[in-house]
Amino acid sequence: MQAKINGITMRFDLAGKAQAPVVILVHGFPFDLSLWKAQVAALKKDFRVLSYDLRGMGKSGLGPAPQPLEAYVDDLFALMDHLGLKQAGAAGLSMGGYIVLRAMQREPSRFWALALCDTRADADSDEGRLKRAAGIKAVREKGVAAFVKGMLPNLLCKQKSPAATALLKMMLSSNADGVANALAAMAARTDSTASLKDIKIPALVVTGDQDALMPPLIAKGLALKIKASEFVEIPDAGHVSNLENPVAFNKAFLAFLRKAASRT
Ligand code: MLT
Repeated sequence: MQAKINGITMRFDLAGKAQAPVVILVHGFPFDLSLWKAQVAALKKDFRVLSYDLRGMGKSGLGPAPQPLEAYVDDLFALMDHLGLKQAGAAGLSMGGYIVLRAMQREPSRFWALALCDTRADADSDEGRLKRAAGIKAVREKGVAAFVKGMLPNLLCKQKSPAATALLKMMLSSNADGVANALAAMAARTDSTASLKDIKIPALVVTGDQDALMPPLIAKGLALKIKASEFVEIPDAGHVSNLENPVAFNKAFLAFLRKAASRT
C-alpha cells in the first residue's frame, strides 16, 4: 500500500484486526519493511501491525536533502494521522529506535509502549560523525553495493544464512541518495538520553548478544534509565536481532506487548 505524505510516496503495510491495539514497526538503516516479516506474522493475531519503508529506503520516495532525523519523525506522525491512528505501541530497530525515541520525546501521548531494539539514546561522537562523512563519500563514489557489502560483517553474527541473504537484498535495493541522506541525519541527530527518565509507558529494550554496533552493555544502560523497562538479550544474534533469531525475539516481544496492552 502507498500513502502520499510530506511530499513523498510512502510504502506501508497494515496487517491484523482493525479494532486491535496498533503496533508500529520502524526499521533500521538501510533496510525496508520486510525486515519485520517474522514479527508481522507473529503479532497480527493480537495486534494491528503497521510497517513502512523510511524515506529514501525500500520503495518509499526520497524527498529533498537535507533531511534531518526530524523529517523521519514527521513522516511517522504523518503516516499515523493519514491512517487515523491516534495511539500506537512503537518498535524501532537501531535507526528506527532513534526515530521512535525522538517521536516519544515530541509527542509522548501518541504511544502506549516502546520496544527499543539494538539501539541507543545518545548522539554520535565526533569519531562517529567523521565515519558517517566517510560513508557519504563512499556511497557517492563507489555506489550502494560496495557500501552495504562493507556493512554486512557488523550487522549479523552469521555471514552465510537466509537472514544474511534477506538483509543484503534489502540493502542492495537502497537508493544512494537515500543512504547518504540517512547518514547525514544520523550524524546530526540529537541526544535523547535526558528524556529517558520521562518515559512512563512500558518499554522493552532488546539486543542481540553479539551485537557489534550496540553491544549489550549499551542496551543495558539504556534500559536502566527507563523506569518501566525490561531488558532482554537475544541469544545467537548480532545487530539485526529480530531477523537473526526471530523465535527468541518474537517470544520476548509478544509477551511484552500483550502485557503492556492489557494495562492500557
Ligand atoms: C542501523 O542499523 O540502523 C544503523 O546501524 C544505525 C547507525 O548506523 O547508527
